[in-house]
Amino acid sequence: MPAELPLVLITHTLPEEWLRKLAGQCLIVTGPPDADHLAPELDEHLPEAEGVFSLLTIPVSEELLSKAPNLRVVSNMAVGYDNIDVAACTRRGIPVGNTPGVLTEGTADLTMALLLAAARKLPEASKDAREGRWTTWSPTGWLGADLNGATLGIVGMGKIGAAVARRAKAFGMKIIYSDPNPHHEIEVVLLAMRKSLDKILTESDFLSLHCPLNPETSGLIDAQALQAMKPSAILINAARGPVVATKDLYRALSEGWIAAAALDVTDPEPLPSDDPLYALPNCLIVPHIGSATHYTRRRMAELACDNLLAGLRGERLPNCVNPEVYQ
Ligand code: GLV
Repeated sequence: MPAELPLVLITHTLPEEWLRKLAGQCLIVTGPPDADHLAPELDEHLPEAEGVFSLLTIPVSEELLSKAPNLRVVSNMAVGYDNIDVAACTRRGIPVGNTPGVLTEGTADLTMALLLAAARKLPEASKDAREGRWTTWSPTGWLGADLNGATLGIVGMGKIGAAVARRAKAFGMKIIYSDPNPHHEIEVVLLAMRKSLDKILTESDFLSLHCPLNPETSGLIDAQALQAMKPSAILINAARGPVVATKDLYRALSEGWIAAAALDVTDPEPLPSDDPLYALPNCLIVPHIGSATHYTRRRMAELACDNLLAGLRGERLPNCVNPEVYQ
């Protein structure tokens, strides 16, 4: 490969077929499969790197940027970009790319899976069956909550929130939502009623979080919010862990402030295996798999490649979270 090709750091090992678009376009140095910080073998290449292709577990911080004076693009393979110091990138004129759209439906599917599993106590029922506690057809065993006629509160009516609303409608749910800047598709107007967060908290039978993590949403669902919810309510978080105050959630679940929670995301992530939340029968936790389908993850990688290549060519990124760099 000619030496003048730009150097790109890919923070994790990814399937080759996901990165096909990069072939012949750049020199690549790749990190290990499960990195939660920039691997030392990548760190030493920062001074020459012109592009970084990151996953959401890698903090792209001021410190990292200060070691990369030649960086021209950061491409995050995620729709969320709270791992990136976007303001610091903008100050340096570095565009940041993300991967919206392609993971909307997959994440909405997982949200419904969590909602249904928590509503119908699937983890407990499955465990009981497996461990010999299914002794008869029990008229009072494993009783759960109905979706039909229940109120679903959605916090964050973006693309994913709207896709969840569409699905929930098919289950006969009434949908209310709060969002300072909602997605204005006609389907949202028809499907859901916008209310204040206070009303969403008190009226919801199911509360599903789909907002980005930012200073306004960090710790949004704290003790006060959880105490405002119905004791029968079920909380679903497929957004970002720190939107919910973890210690407050533990109290809420163990003291009966709410009935159950189903979490695709936690704070911290990964949640250590000895965390007390795992011991609660009314808390279902899965390891941040909202976008984990074959199709979705491949499309996310392809979009991230498109952003990366556009940035290396000095073109506008197809999906740029800080378009002010172009002004
Ligand atoms: C996943 O959480 C994403 O932001 O893409």
